[in-house]
Amino acid sequence: MENSIVEEAWQALEKAIIYYYDRPIGTLAARDPNLEALNYDQCFIRDFVSSALVFLIKGQPEIVRNFLIETLRMQIKERQLDFLEPGRGLMPASFKVIVENDYQYLQPDFGDRAIGRVTPVDSCLWWIMILRAYVKATGDIELAHQDEFQRGIRLILELCLVARFDIYPTLLVPDGASMIDRRMGTNGHPLEIQSLFYAALRAANELLLDNKVNQFIIQGVKNRLGPLTEHIRKHYWLDMERLNDIYHYKGEEYGEHALNQFNIYSDSIPYAWLTEWLPERGGYLAGNLGPSQLDCRFFTVGNLMAIISSLASPRQSQAIMELIEQRFDDLIGYMPMKICFPALEDRDWKLVTGCDPKNRPWSYHNGGNWPVLIWMLAAASLKTGRIELISHAIEIAKRRLSADRWAEYYDGKNGRLVGKEARKYQTWTIAGFLLAQELLANPEHLKLISFEPDEITNRA
Ligand code: GLC
Repeated sequence: MENSIVEEAWQALEKAIIYYYDRPIGTLAARDPNLEALNYDQCFIRDFVSSALVFLIKGQPEIVRNFLIETLRMQIKERQLDFLEPGRGLMPASFKVIVENDYQYLQPDFGDRAIGRVTPVDSCLWWIMILRAYVKATGDIELAHQDEFQRGIRLILELCLVARFDIYPTLLVPDGASMIDRRMGTNGHPLEIQSLFYAALRAANELLLDNKVNQFIIQGVKNRLGPLTEHIRKHYWLDMERLNDIYHYKGEEYGEHALNQFNIYSDSIPYAWLTEWLPERGGYLAGNLGPSQLDCRFFTVGNLMAIISSLASPRQSQAIMELIEQRFDDLIGYMPMKICFPALEDRDWKLVTGCDPKNRPWSYHNGGNWPVLIWMLAAASLKTGRIELISHAIEIAKRRLSADRWAEYYDGKNGRLVGKEARKYQTWTIAGFLLAQELLANPEHLKLISFEPDEITNRA
């Protein structure tokens, strides 16, 4: 039984491979025979992460190498004089192989075709992480050291580190700039982007050659890591102690010594829910922070990637895992695991999502359960020594994934319903499951995606 599910997943993953002139270069988002493809017949950079890691672990690095080379060619390289092109350094959200007779070409989507015209901020960050994983798995550092790759990394960093209107060390982004690629109130400084940003900075620091052209940008990376870490650990953190502090905050404080730096009004914090939901020893990083805004929703990618990348301190990482364990039914339920918790309901749903029917409460991005997240749960569990938690979660996933034909997401408070508009044979569901299994079987592979605490994070 067990082997047959794994075997089935492998076969499904192989069927999802995209070829460009006979070379494998990526995987389709989904292969659902019964639904209109829309853009699910494309290779998304974020979706390819789990596939890439699985291929690397299985000793098939060629597809990852081809992916890296081709996507790098698609990156925006020049500043356009009409100032209407996307920013230099941007990577596409997805791409497609177009076949015309004997001729083939790749068509990228930078958000210019995507539903809602959303900007894929996360693509360039994931791209650097895939490159690092490839180098770690194969030892082929020469690829990353090639001029075009060094330039590609530099352009991404320049795009992220350039001085803008903002004084925070975090990245300011529009709504829907990452896995949640629809309006969900994740504009501003959402945690997910900050965790990926931190990981990308760490990866770039390892990959950039210490030479004259890179000097300036390497300094930029080093200068940003410390303040970013401190900002997230201090201001995004939520546990009972912090909640007590915030409860007693005073508003309208001016100057450097203000305690309530972001002018958070106590009334905006859902204390009734949080005082019951937060376990004594657990905690998590809040979803977003801005002027008079502390989004107290729990976002899974941001929290798990903060653990995996060591953006969260070791103590915070343990507390986040403690929370997941204690709130297993809410966050994992019948399918690991929820994308965020709790869902936006009623008027909040109307105002924040723009009445998006796909994002109704406890569906899709608004509190749905996404099986792909199981690999991040596996990585974070292994990093914090919670083997039982991940073994249990994998058992739960196994019961349904194959029977539900590798659904994209699940609906309902406890994730019991196959998502209303969920695709079947969703590739990252398949690859995420395989990756979780591989990580559990050999935790050595964790190093492909995780980072040890660095000197700065050790001090905090
Ligand atoms: C949906 C998801 C996005 C994913 C894409 C392809 O748009 O929100 O995160 O990359 O589907 O699977």
